[in-house]
Amino acid sequence: MEKLEMLYEGKAKKVYKTENADYYIVEYKDDATAFNGVKKGTIHDKGIVNNKMSALLFKMLEEKGIPTHFETLINDREQYVKAVKILPLEVIVRNVAAGSLSKRLGLEEGVPMKQTVLEFCYKDDELGDPMINEYHIAAIELATEAQVEKIKAYSFQINDILKAFFLERDLKLIDFKLEFGVFKDEVILADEISPDTCRLWDAHTNEKMDKDRFRRDLGNVEDTYQQVLGRLEK
Ligand code: C5P
Repeated sequence: MEKLEMLYEGKAKKVYKTENADYYIVEYKDDATAFNGVKKGTIHDKGIVNNKMSALLFKMLEEKGIPTHFETLINDREQYVKAVKILPLEVIVRNVAAGSLSKRLGLEEGVPMKQTVLEFCYKDDELGDPMINEYHIAAIELATEAQVEKIKAYSFQINDILKAFFLERDLKLIDFKLEFGVFKDEVILADEISPDTCRLWDAHTNEKMDKDRFRRDLGNVEDTYQQVLGRLEK
């Protein structure tokens, strides 16, 4: 499991080729960005938390029947994953109003949704990841209809599994973002699930325990990331 040439460097991760064309090594960084790269900073040891948390959650999701890119944890910052071709979609699942949904619809943060909301965004930094719907996806061929149906079904299942898992650890899953990829013609879950990509509130105090602490300058960012991992590893 040796890192070869770097294929891609994103805001929070680097992806390397390996000797096996079917697998990549992903390295998690401490770099943090928000508002489409406008706010930049570092969250000390965030890469370690996100790597370990994603590994733990993807393994758990696999055990519950969701196919994922995750293979093994290599060390604190690296994991071995299937070499997927990422679909250029961000899938956002919302249980409670917060963030851009609150702004867009004029809803107070914390208002529960009467039903789970699923949104798609077109993953394109230059365009600022605009929200799109299934007609746009078909019209500009971002994914096939069959792939979109799979993505929707997996996303709702993942929400049910994660909501219950987090609640057992005193965390409310407010919303989160998923990315999917294609591996050997199958759609599988890829990217990460971490405090960077989820809103998690303490189940008793509603304290924000996610990247909103960085986005909104709420303080205790590093400590909160460690606390979330600590709750999951118990
Ligand atoms: O900003 P917004 O309220 O739309 O974010 C919804 C959820 O998706 C949040 O949990 C946020 O962390 C996540 N997200 C993400 N990456 C993006 C956009 C949103 O992880 N590019």
